[in-house]
Amino acid sequence: MKANVIFSPSLADELFFREKIVVVVDALRASSSIIAAIANGAKEIVPVDSIAFGMKAGATLFGGRTIRAGEKNMRKIDGFQIGNSPREYVEEAVKGKSIIFLSTNGSKAIVKTKFSDRTLIGSFANLGAVADELVERGKDFEVLCSGSSGGFSLEDAVCAGMIVQAVAKRRKNETLETTDAARAATMLANGTGEDVEKTLRESEHGKRLIENGFEEDVAWCAKVDRTDVVPVFLNTVIRNPNSAAASA
Ligand code: MLT
Repeated sequence: MKANVIFSPSLADELFFREKIVVVVDALRASSSIIAAIANGAKEIVPVDSIAFGMKAGATLFGGRTIRAGEKNMRKIDGFQIGNSPREYVEEAVKGKSIIFLSTNGSKAIVKTKFSDRTLIGSFANLGAVADELVERGKDFEVLCSGSSGGFSLEDAVCAGMIVQAVAKRRKNETLETTDAARAATMLANGTGEDVEKTLRESEHGKRLIENGFEEDVAWCAKVDRTDVVPVFLNTVIRNPNSAAASA
């Protein structure tokens, strides 16, 4: 079993992910919001990569059970019902709903993996559950960091490193091969992962969120293992494969 980490979506094209097991991480905040939504009973999430497509996709789905969610420049988009704060994705807002979801980096990174065998949505919030699932599958995997505008994000790299470490720890005596990028991510995690909230607060994106009034989101996103829900992106939608609502 081999682990690789891709520090930005700009480092791989769509076909690279063909038939691979992928974990997409956007710790601040898209993957955290998606995990909150699915954990609180959202039926499905459709990640989109443009506002125009989000509007079109929303308009073609029926009734009040479809909502639009996400952000542009960290703020809720006009015409959308929910922003990109994981604290907004409470049961009353999302239970049973289909959610069209757009964010600056995270939703685009997820869409980029559409040819994968399976894409798991990972964050600090479900890190242990993601590692359990990867170990159970026993196959090589890629962790794709959503990064920032095609560049590197510290919080995603640290989260990716912690996922790789958690898989290695669970495999005990069986070795986990790691690429140089996966090793670099684990080194970062060793250096900064102990105080996740501090790392997030001091990251560029964390600082921007705090300056814009989203300090509580940073704390939310920093909490490790809040849930054992692992949303899966398959056939253009994200669902909880273990939920009856997902197949209803
Ligand atoms: C993104 O997708 O880039 C982030 O989730 C942005 C944000 O924090 O709203």
